[in-house]
Amino acid sequence: MGERGGMPVLEARGVVRRYPRRGLTIGDGPGSVVAVNGVSLALADGEVLGIIGRSGAGKSTLGRILAGLERPDEGEVLFAGERLSALRGEAYRRARRRVQIVFQDPAAALNPRHSIERIVAEPIVVNGLVRGREARGERVAELLAAVGLQATTGLLGRRPGELSGGERQRVAIARALACEPRVLVLDEPVSLLDVSVQGRLLNLLLDLRACFSLAMVLITHDLAVAARVAERIVVMHAGRTVEEGRVAEVMRAPRSPYTLELLEAASLAG
Ligand SMILES: Nc1ncnc2c1ncn2[C@@H]1O[C@H](COP(=O)(O)OP(=O)(O)OP(=O)(O)O)[C@@H](O)[C@H]1O
Ligand SMILES: [Mg+2]
Repeated sequence: MGERGGMPVLEARGVVRRYPRRGLTIGDGPGSVVAVNGVSLALADGEVLGIIGRSGAGKSTLGRILAGLERPDEGEVLFAGERLSALRGEAYRRARRRVQIVFQDPAAALNPRHSIERIVAEPIVVNGLVRGREARGERVAELLAAVGLQATTGLLGRRPGELSGGERQRVAIARALACEPRVLVLDEPVSLLDVSVQGRLLNLLLDLRACFSLAMVLITHDLAVAARVAERIVVMHAGRTVEEGRVAEVMRAPRSPYTLELLEAASLAG
């Protein structure tokens, strides 16, 4: 639990997620992988929580479940105190919209045939958030400015493939912000970027958090990345939480051997 008090904006309670084992061959043993195995966590309003762990720890699976893209096999996700599984219709759509996810690879997440303008405007239109063409255009410009991009006609008309990796990730973030989220789940948002671009993007996340009063779940295999942005971290290993605490304390005195391993592997960037 965070120390901010109040009701968590997002919460996982005893979340379990199993998948059929891939490439099952005869004699491979029982047929499922437990990707997330009983994880509970709470995110306070405005808090940044890092989820770290080595490859296969279950981070992305947990992230998708927190963002409502997948349902847990057991356990519950609660948004602002309400169980997602109990919500229906408009209330469900609203809760889903308030938790947005940004993936590692924006090239795969953004439609390559759509213009930047259309990509950022789409959630505004679909959710009926801003009425009128002109107001929508202003909102798109505002969102692009918030992520450090200038809404020139040149940029608005371009396709994702015509941008740099860092610019593309900024567009993906602007599109997520267009949904007016209270929580951003970021799954390895900088791991495909150059180190210098990484630092700027992480600073942007900190700015956005302040500007938009966002809470964030930052998923990364790199403890140095989490340390730069998060206040608290959860360390996952084999689907479970093996350590949790304030970043500075965990880094100073890691209690789990898996945390120690991540500490030794952490990039020294920034
Ligand atoms: N859709 C799926 N079908 C089958 N197995 C899956 C699926 N998604 C994840 N898994 C398995 O669940 C486990 C956890 O995977 P997950 O992608 O959540 O880990 P991760 O911590 O995000 O790893 P990485 O750092 O490599 O991204 C792994 O054993 C993975 O192979
Ligand atoms: Mg992953």
